[in-house]
Amino acid sequence: MTETTNERDVVDILSADHQEFLALIQQIKGTIEGEQRRDLADTLISELVRHSVAEEMFVYPAMRKHLPDGAEAVAHDTAEHKELEVTMKKLEAVDSTSSDFRELIDQLETTLRDHVTDEEGEQFPQLRAQIPREDLVQMAAKVEAAKKAAPTRPHPLAPNNQVFHKLVGPGVGLVDRLRDKLTGRSTS
Ligand SMILES: [Fe+2]
Ligand SMILES: [Fe+2]
Repeated sequence: MTETTNERDVVDILSADHQEFLALIQQIKGTIEGEQRRDLADTLISELVRHSVAEEMFVYPAMRKHLPDGAEAVAHDTAEHKELEVTMKKLEAVDSTSSDFRELIDQLETTLRDHVTDEEGEQFPQLRAQIPREDLVQMAAKVEAAKKAAPTRPHPLAPNNQVFHKLVGPGVGLVDRLRDKLTGRSTS
């Protein structure tokens, strides 16, 4: 994250997130050790929930308003976020060394790739075509701020990993707890 951050528009930010998620999935697949896998999966889950919530709060409303067939696109994309969350919740609950874990990662990857193709191939180019660049840059700032509303997940290999786990906790319930924190629906 450098000085160029402020000049990036929301499509840059969200597309970079997508690449990060897909890279994390490859990293998980290449990791044998269980605890490290769990850690990487928790990172993926928390980043993906933050991304989805930020899109739903600031990007999908603009899509609904400005895109031809925007309402349908938003309904489709939101349903895919739900689908991703169902898989992530299952992922929370399984042993990271099990074959179930590997299957769920594959399932998550399939849904995510499809979702990313929809967004980057169809909706994001339309956003850029319909909305002035300065507005998309402002939207990027809102998305960045929204993601910071929940505890930041450090890189899994960073030494302050435990701090995150103390704040949010690993494993079961992570998806729901993060979504609640991010949307201000917190029950704690
Ligand atoms: Fe996305
Ligand atoms: Fe999305």
